[in-house]
Amino acid sequence: MKPLSSSTQRRRPFSSYYYFITLAFITFVAIIYWKDFASFLQSPARSSPTEKGEECDIFEGRWVYDEDNRPLYEEEECPYIQPQLTCQAHGRPETGYQRWRWQPHGCSLPRFNASQMLEMLRGKRMMFVGDSLNRGQYVSMVCLLHRIIPESAKSLETVDSLTVFRAKDYNASIEFYWAPFLVESNSDNAVVHRITDRIVRARSINKHAQYWKGADILVFNTYLWWMTGSKMKILKGSFGGDMKDIIEMETEDAYRLALRRMVKWVEKNMDPQNTRVFFASMSPAHASSKEWGGEPDGNCYNETTPIQDPTYWGSASKSMMQVLKEVLSKSRVPISLLNITQLSEYRKDAHTSIYKKQWTPLTPEQIANPKSYADCTHWCLPGLQDTWNELLYANLFSP
Ligand SMILES: *[C@@H]1O[C@H](CO)[C@@H](O)[C@H](O)[C@H]1NC(C)=O
Ligand SMILES: *[C@@H]1O[C@H](CO)[C@@H](O)[C@H](O)[C@H]1NC(C)=O
Ligand SMILES: *[C@@H]1O[C@H](CO)[C@@H](O)[C@H](O)[C@H]1NC(C)=O
Ligand SMILES: *[C@@H]1O[C@H](CO)[C@@H](O)[C@H](O)[C@H]1NC(C)=O
Repeated sequence: MKPLSSSTQRRRPFSSYYYFITLAFITFVAIIYWKDFASFLQSPARSSPTEKGEECDIFEGRWVYDEDNRPLYEEEECPYIQPQLTCQAHGRPETGYQRWRWQPHGCSLPRFNASQMLEMLRGKRMMFVGDSLNRGQYVSMVCLLHRIIPESAKSLETVDSLTVFRAKDYNASIEFYWAPFLVESNSDNAVVHRITDRIVRARSINKHAQYWKGADILVFNTYLWWMTGSKMKILKGSFGGDMKDIIEMETEDAYRLALRRMVKWVEKNMDPQNTRVFFASMSPAHASSKEWGGEPDGNCYNETTPIQDPTYWGSASKSMMQVLKEVLSKSRVPISLLNITQLSEYRKDAHTSIYKKQWTPLTPEQIANPKSYADCTHWCLPGLQDTWNELLYANLFSP
């Protein structure tokens, strides 16, 4: 894949795939429409053609230590990072986790160009919808963009579940909407949502989705909140009612219902000619070092290098990935998969671990045993999630 210098110069590299397109396509009418297609909508394929014309899966690759080009911004120059993700400010003794660059096997990622991205967002709304991991990707995107915007021309505001970053000179907004299950649930409060007994209304989405209308680019995720055990509680009635109609369902089946509901909403509300929809696959955790052949009782705490085994796969659920694949493939509006699971699996070093704001004071037992309170789910910024956005960027700018 070749980075393109401007959105108006986008072109379709020649590939053997196009041999199969019938001549009927190459009519005058097709050429007229081609312009529209190419201007914003690209194929939902997760791969991009290389210069030689063969397909390159940008999600297959390896991590390369690149001190000269990483990080893409400094932690202290981005005021939008929540204290749960500012690892340096919370005492992380090294910065190696910031210095890895993702190198796909068959091509190189385009360099993230903030002014090009903002130009593309001119007059548009880009919205991330999901849980705290998606919020991390959102904040990363804001950090990647905000530097080139003067102080007076930007703002960030949170009201309930919606956080909006505005770039005034571009009339662009980059937004995050808290909906950890996408569909309605009892964990929808953006601040108070630490609920162990989670209940979802798998077919109810409009309570949230009314806020997504009009978005030009949507980036969904949902996974972590489903993983409470083998079953999910599904409420048939409404949360205001007597709550009697609760059934238990296999997690995969409940996940499928919710994803299908999301797809149905996308099909009804997103115009494939002028909008883009993405879905970020599962963000893996590193809660047990046994999984990568480490100490029997360790976790991500004290990990400073990525896993080298290219076949490594930890505890991320393959069956949930299968459900995701199946549901997205049936969508009539293309939903591009950001398949960040495998590349993030390698990054046992990139979690916030103990280097984050603690909401409750630590006990002497915890202080004596730091790994007991390490967060092996969320990721330091700058860090891994900047790469998720580089992949999103690559997908937006290349066919
Ligand atoms: C970023 O893109 C702009 C055009 O939008 C171009 O002028 C600039 O040189 C690019 N910057 C880099 C570092 O490539
Ligand atoms: C700003 O963008 C919104 C869409 O996000 C659009 O409705 C509005 O017309 C734009 N305003 C101007 C002044 O371009
Ligand atoms: C952390 O790792 C270093 C070297 O990798 C090791 O010397 C140290 O004992 C480890 N600390 C803990 C608490 O595991
Ligand atoms: C994502 O990538 C992993 C490995 O690279 C693969 O096993 C999985 O099937 C992919 N998921 C989808 C939905 O294509």
